[in-house]
Amino acid sequence: MRTKIVKITEGNRKEVLKKAAIIIKNGGLVVFPTETVYGLGANVFDDKALSKIFLAKGRPGDNPLIVHISDKTELKELTNSVTENQQKLIDAFWPGPLTIIFEKKDTISNIVSGGLSTIAVRMPSNYIAHKLIHLAGVPIAAPSANISGRPSGTKGEDIYNELVGKVNMIINDGDSKIGVESTVIKINDKQILILRPGAVTKEMLEKVLFPLPVFFAKDKNDLQSSPGTKYKHYAPKFKLEVISKEEIKNKAEVLKNKGLIIGVITTNQNKDSFKEYEPNFFILGDENNLEEISKNLYNALRFFDTHKVDLILCQSFPEVGLGVAIMDRLERASA
Ligand code: TXA
Ligand code: MG
Repeated sequence: MRTKIVKITEGNRKEVLKKAAIIIKNGGLVVFPTETVYGLGANVFDDKALSKIFLAKGRPGDNPLIVHISDKTELKELTNSVTENQQKLIDAFWPGPLTIIFEKKDTISNIVSGGLSTIAVRMPSNYIAHKLIHLAGVPIAAPSANISGRPSGTKGEDIYNELVGKVNMIINDGDSKIGVESTVIKINDKQILILRPGAVTKEMLEKVLFPLPVFFAKDKNDLQSSPGTKYKHYAPKFKLEVISKEEIKNKAEVLKNKGLIIGVITTNQNKDSFKEYEPNFFILGDENNLEEISKNLYNALRFFDTHKVDLILCQSFPEVGLGVAIMDRLERASA
């Protein structure tokens, strides 16, 4: 398949969006930016197009897709039941990086839901994503734009490498703002369960539905309800270990002396102590700025696609706020 690659400019935005919307309507695949990571999208009502997503990514069929809408009223096309608590979260966080699991309508294909009776929905805040869904006139099912198991695509060039020839169009609009995927939650009368942590944090969810308790699924041993989490994820090409910044220095030195080539992922604060590991050395940003760290996280993992090492040592972060999502991805990447 020939892939049309376009870089968005002031001048071409309208035209590109129009063409992309036609591709979606005609059953094709379009890679488009969202505020979290890039998505690989197809018309949610077109089974043939949906199947192509799984083929392009090499994604297991039982790993369901997130459906993206551009307007809250489109939710009616996907589910018949929105509870009061779900509505409060929608009002608080949409458009934005929160995915909510609903009971799905019977008319929604099992291909989207991976055979489950539920459907994951979110309304992205990114302008291009919003316009594309609106112009296509249908909700767009879209997993992250990457080959299954690899870090999610957050920059055009990485996506070309993995998906050229497998999709009809790639819309490049620069680096993703957040850099990690949306928070995925399931909610009932008793609790909110975070199936995948993201930029909408536990603390933010607690505020909106107080005193309803919020749990991480991994603490509740409830990951069966999130099929995606059982698969290998975000894997860099070489083995990764996540340890405290104090430990990195010692460990790197010992292993280097044994003749191993060590890669280091760390922050501005520790830049100077690791100069000797150049060029196998990636700075995520300021360690007190978790937004900056999350934005650069997958760039760091992909950096080592082209820097051959025996082991990558990455600095760990405190598991509060966005730090939970960062550590979740790092732990999965190192598993
Ligand atoms: O930020 C994001 O969410 C990005 C952008 C493109 O929107 N999308 C994304 O999609 O990360 P994907 O397919 O890479 O991850 C979807 C996650 C998977 O872990 C999947 O198992 C889970 O959402 N999921 C989807 N539908 C579900 C459902 N009905 N029940 C439980 N988990 C579900
Ligand atoms: Mg993904």
